[in-house]
Amino acid sequence: MASLMGTKIVVVGGSSGIGLGVAAAALAHGAELVIVGRSQDKLLKAQHILGTDGRVKTVTADMTHEGEIATAFAGIGAFDHLVSTAGALPPGSPIGETDADETRLFIDSKFVGAVLLAKHAARRLNRGGSMTFTSGINKDKPPVPGGAVVSAVAGSFSYFARALALELAPSRVNIVSPGWVDTPMFDELVGDAKAGYFEAMAARLPIGRIASPADIASAYIHAMESDFTTGETLHIDGGQRLI
Ligand SMILES: NC(=O)c1ccc[n+]([C@@H]2O[C@H](COP(=O)([O-])OP(=O)(O)OC[C@H]3O[C@@H](n4cnc5c(N)ncnc54)[C@H](OP(=O)(O)O)[C@@H]3O)[C@@H](O)[C@H]2O)c1
Repeated sequence: MASLMGTKIVVVGGSSGIGLGVAAAALAHGAELVIVGRSQDKLLKAQHILGTDGRVKTVTADMTHEGEIATAFAGIGAFDHLVSTAGALPPGSPIGETDADETRLFIDSKFVGAVLLAKHAARRLNRGGSMTFTSGINKDKPPVPGGAVVSAVAGSFSYFARALALELAPSRVNIVSPGWVDTPMFDELVGDAKAGYFEAMAARLPIGRIASPADIASAYIHAMESDFTTGETLHIDGGQRLI
C-alpha cells in the first residue's frame, strides 16, 4: 500500500457531499488537497470546514467546459491522485417522456466531464498516481420506471476504467460505486421526502443504516492507496445490491 502522506490530491466535487468526505479523509491521511467545483462560495465554505492550515487549495472550474479544465490543471501542475465525484442530478423520466436536451446535459456533466478530466489529468499525474471516478447503485438497481439513462451512464464507468487502466498504465484508474448516501444531492433530489426514503431503505439494508460521506470516502482512500488495484469498480453500498 502506498501512503498518501505528503501526496497532492485533486478532488473534483470536493466542495460537497461524497467529495467533501473524500477530502476530509485524505487530509487525515496527510495529503495536500485541491478541491474543484463550479461555485466559489461552496468551495470556500468547504475549505473552512476542512480547516485552514494551508493544505487545502480551491480551484473554480466547470468540468463540462474543456477550456476551464485545461486552465485549472495548468494552474495545479503535477499531482498524485485525481478523484471526481462531480455530476448533475440524475434525470428520472420514464423512457416515453425522455427529454433529449436533459439527457444530453446529464451525459455531458457526468460522463463527458470525466473524459475531459482524464484527458487533462493524465499528462500531469506523477508516477504511481491514480484516477478514481464515481458511478452508483443506479446501474445495479435502477429506479423503475425512469432509471434507464442514469443506469446506462453509471454502468459505462466500469468499462471506461477498464480501458483507461490499460491505456494509462502504470497509472491506475478505478471507479467507486456508492449506494444511497446522505448528501446535499439527495436533498435536492427528493426534498422533504428524504427522511421517509432513508428510514425505509435503512430498514432493508443488511448494514441497517444509510451511509454518510465518511463511510464512502474509505473506498476512495483504498483506491488511491492500493497500488495493486486498477480497472476495478469498488462497490460500497451497505449491501444495497443484494436486496
Ligand atoms: N448521494 C448519493 O446517494 C449518491 C449515490 C450514488 C452515486 N452518487 C454519485 O456521487 C456523485 C457525488 O454525489 P454527491 O451526493 O456527493 O453530490 P453533491 O453533494 O451534490 O456534490 C457534487 C459536487 O460536484 C460538484 N460539481 C457538480 N457538477 C460539476 C461540474 N460540472 N464541474 C465541477 N464540479 C461539479 C459540486 O460543486 P458545484 O455545484 O459548485 O459545481 C459538488 O462539489 C454524483 O455523481 C452522484 O451521481 C451519489
